[in-house]
Amino acid sequence: MTTLDELRQQIAVCTRCELHRGATNPVPGEGNPQARILLIGEAPGFHEDAQGKPFVGTSGKFLTELLQSAGLSRDDVFITNVVKHRPPGNRDPLPDEIYACSHFLKQQVEIINPDVIVTLGRFSMAAYFPGERISRIHGKAKEVDGRLIVPMYHPAAALHNGALRPEIEADFQKLPRLLAEREATRAKSDPIVRQQSLF
Ligand code: URA
Repeated sequence: MTTLDELRQQIAVCTRCELHRGATNPVPGEGNPQARILLIGEAPGFHEDAQGKPFVGTSGKFLTELLQSAGLSRDDVFITNVVKHRPPGNRDPLPDEIYACSHFLKQQVEIINPDVIVTLGRFSMAAYFPGERISRIHGKAKEVDGRLIVPMYHPAAALHNGALRPEIEADFQKLPRLLAEREATRAKSDPIVRQQSLF
């Protein structure tokens, strides 16, 4: 299987869409390669492009606070985006750009193999909940391929619209319980995991 390092190298030289042309750095994602929780944002912005790291600007600081409020640190999770290069002027990623980058995201999910995937905003939500509205389903987990997918508002949306802040905070507070439930289910259905936990 491809490794996260190999993916990082492939992303760095990827020309499958035009986004690489205007980008300073690729932003493949970072965090714990064995994370039980994978967070998927939208696209790198100005600061992410400058540093080659996801969620390091204002919404990234808020995301770190949200994780901390749920008893998690950034070292516990892996954070990536739907597209790995910054769209010019922070515009929305286009459908063909999302499609061109989707095989990287798919492989990241396979390699990290998280129990819980948190989608941040409507672009990553659309990968798992096509046609849904975030205002209707945020915080409601659904099982897909043996993982819990939890759609959440994008932290930037909550920063722009203060009314969403308590909603995103409450959704993050659910994460420890959802993770514990998912791990318990997995331990029951996977005898190898159960056996490992005996030693
Ligand atoms: N917003 C995102 O969706 N991703 C980032 O990495 C930064 C801001």
